[in-house]
Amino acid sequence: MVLWEGRFKKELDSRTNDFNSSISIDSRMYKQDILGSIAHSTMLEKQGIISLEDKEKIVNELTNILNEIENGTLKIDPHAEDIHMFIETELTKRIGDSGKKLHTARSRNDQVALDLRMYIKDEINSLIDYLKILIKALCNKAEENLETVMPGYTHLQRAQPITFAHHLMAYVEMLLRDIQRLEDCYKRVNIMPLGSCALAGTTYNTDRNYVKELLEFDEITQNSLDGVSDRDFAIEFLSCMSIIMMHLSRFSEEVVMWCSWEFKFIELDDAFSTGSSIMPQKKNPDITELVRGKTGRVYGDLITMLTVMKGLPLAYNKDMQEDKEAIFDSIDTVKICITTLIPMIETMKVLKENMKKAAQKGFINATDCADYLVRKGMPFRDAYKVTGQIVALCNEQDKTLDTLELEEYKKICNLFEEDIYQAIDLINCVNSRKVPGGPAAEAVAKRIQSTLGNG
Ligand code: ARG
Repeated sequence: MVLWEGRFKKELDSRTNDFNSSISIDSRMYKQDILGSIAHSTMLEKQGIISLEDKEKIVNELTNILNEIENGTLKIDPHAEDIHMFIETELTKRIGDSGKKLHTARSRNDQVALDLRMYIKDEINSLIDYLKILIKALCNKAEENLETVMPGYTHLQRAQPITFAHHLMAYVEMLLRDIQRLEDCYKRVNIMPLGSCALAGTTYNTDRNYVKELLEFDEITQNSLDGVSDRDFAIEFLSCMSIIMMHLSRFSEEVVMWCSWEFKFIELDDAFSTGSSIMPQKKNPDITELVRGKTGRVYGDLITMLTVMKGLPLAYNKDMQEDKEAIFDSIDTVKICITTLIPMIETMKVLKENMKKAAQKGFINATDCADYLVRKGMPFRDAYKVTGQIVALCNEQDKTLDTLELEEYKKICNLFEEDIYQAIDLINCVNSRKVPGGPAAEAVAKRIQSTLGNG
């Protein structure tokens, strides 16, 4: 069936048909399309626009089509223009005139907007589940490393002692925000556009709110032009996806560094690393490099949509057909990255001794030394200066704060006593940072518990 056969005298050129067709991409929305059509025909019947008999035929046959697509007995025609046309054509092939009535008071413009919103709603729920599993894996790893001291960095310079648990839990905070962002985005996706029709609504006495109820949307769109031409919700979704990837990419970058000989803080399980075709000694963190690389794809998907939309006059334009490829690609990419990272995290070996050795170098307890003097009554700025002199002395003598003798400390400032060594002991330094949000084992353990409890 050529959709516009009344007006046209020729069939579409086959090359143009291939170019115009979106079925290879949008066939993924077959379920949403069918459920949307079932709701639409139910509403048409309730409003007396089609007969009960027509409605029943439509609903029964759409249900059959859905089942047949799912069990593989009905193949989607790759030459169809899009999934909407394929399903309507198939329906009409089977039930004749009743099938032709389905598209009353509807256009593909509001139909595709509906399908896409339904699709993204489902995917947001599923992505949140994926993120929760990743969060759990990070929390479990953190729990095993509450006392694993490592250097915390600023400017990639060793700065102050933290624990591996604290470091991992920073990513958990990011991922929790990613969930919140998706939940918030969901509110704006959850608005029902059907009834906007091509652009100017319809003269039929439809009941948009009834369709909204049937399809479990929160609200209906309030302007028919906007209803068919709004893709803000998709752009917002892609922004959420980009931020997720940005977080996964930062984490991946750290894993790459931690696996290097320069750090050697972790070792990935053989099942989650790759070798080199020429250098037999190599064990490469390819997974995390790929996650970092794929972040570019998802940013690209966001930029695609921003660019597609920026010059479009109202209302629907065919340019918008490009939206689905970007959206589906971002979903596939985020999901595969999360799925691959989870077992990699679960199986990675934490080289606690190496982390500790790194923490012992670089004077990362210098702030604690200054704080020690403050507790003995010295103003912080003076204590800062004295500690600076001590660090310089250590450098001269090739010592650390822990190995410098008390006599030497005393030469610079007589407030130092034997208890300085307690004050600068790395695990004490970490565990005395009990402030909420701090790295002390006690504080981090609490956060892990509250996260897993809420998870
Ligand atoms: N395949 C189209 C899309 O994804 C469906 C809407 C077509 N509407 C139209 N007026 N040509 O955007």
